[in-house]
Amino acid sequence: MSSHWESFYATHLPPTDFEDNRKLLQDFCERHNRNNERIVLVTSGGTTVPLEHNTVRFVDNFSAGTRGAVSTEYFLERGYVTIFMHRLKSLQPFTRHFNGQKFMDMLELDERGPNTTITVKPDSVDVLAPILAQYKAAQENGRILYVSFTTVSDYFWLLRAACECLATFTTRAVLYLAAAVSDFYVPAHELPTHKIQSGGVAPNIQLQLVPKLLAPLVSLWVPHAFVVSFKLETDESILITKAREALNKYKHKLVIGNMLQTRRNKVVFVTPDNHYDLVLTREQLLKGMEIEEIIVANVVANHTDYIKMF
Ligand code: PMT
Repeated sequence: MSSHWESFYATHLPPTDFEDNRKLLQDFCERHNRNNERIVLVTSGGTTVPLEHNTVRFVDNFSAGTRGAVSTEYFLERGYVTIFMHRLKSLQPFTRHFNGQKFMDMLELDERGPNTTITVKPDSVDVLAPILAQYKAAQENGRILYVSFTTVSDYFWLLRAACECLATFTTRAVLYLAAAVSDFYVPAHELPTHKIQSGGVAPNIQLQLVPKLLAPLVSLWVPHAFVVSFKLETDESILITKAREALNKYKHKLVIGNMLQTRRNKVVFVTPDNHYDLVLTREQLLKGMEIEEIIVANVVANHTDYIKMF
């Protein structure tokens, strides 16, 4: 009898761009594995659950992809080559600094002469220059690969393909699973083909449990990698218990717990032996410091200790 996750793959087709992404993943990993580098797979953003095959409506979640996008910049800074596996149109490393009005406010428009000119404001140059330098270094040296998903099924296919390529890195691979993956879905064979009509009675939509991919991921796909999962809760009294339950169940290395309300300034690291908080002070927040800087520093330290054990 096949397991829950195997049945999921058997009943959900890969996304149309799957083979292209698999090839990109294979080439990227082969190139960097030859150089004995450390690699991190960052998953980022939320997955959708379509309610129709020709999707007009879907169930979604709150994740903007901030955790994953910001962490990716700090992993690159620490010398890790990075696969940024993200929800299409969610926040991305580097460009996140220029989202919305922020970018417009950095520019100056001069229409006085015969030629209109657009320049970067002098005080914005200081902000832009280091980000642009880091972006160019990552891009030009091929140190980052972007692959995207939208639905929970796309996420499943892409995650397994990434793991197949990462397995050869053994202990040099980190999986940093910050995506907010849907816990409930409507199986493909139960979806209507066309848009649900609103004329009749309100639809009764039955959701089913999504299999947890951490189980095959840790035990079968990348058994030697340093796997970090995240745990989000809204009730603080259960956060550490739930994180510890995940560690006991999946036997990976680290769970980073965070609360919906305080996730930008506080997380808890839960390992098989202990747990400790990482907190940003009000002063640090006001100075623009990001909690991902210390999260990534701590993950890297834990990963280094892990590598030394072999
Ligand atoms: O994007 P932001 O707005 O910055 O928010 C960041 C975040 C709060 C989403 C992030 O920090 C976070 O906590 N992500 C995990 C959310 C969560 O609680 O996931 P979970 O309990 O459903 O799953 C636990 C872990 O298993 C996660 O690492 C998840 O990526 C992974 N998982 C979950 C389900 C599944 N089917 N397969 C998985 O791999």
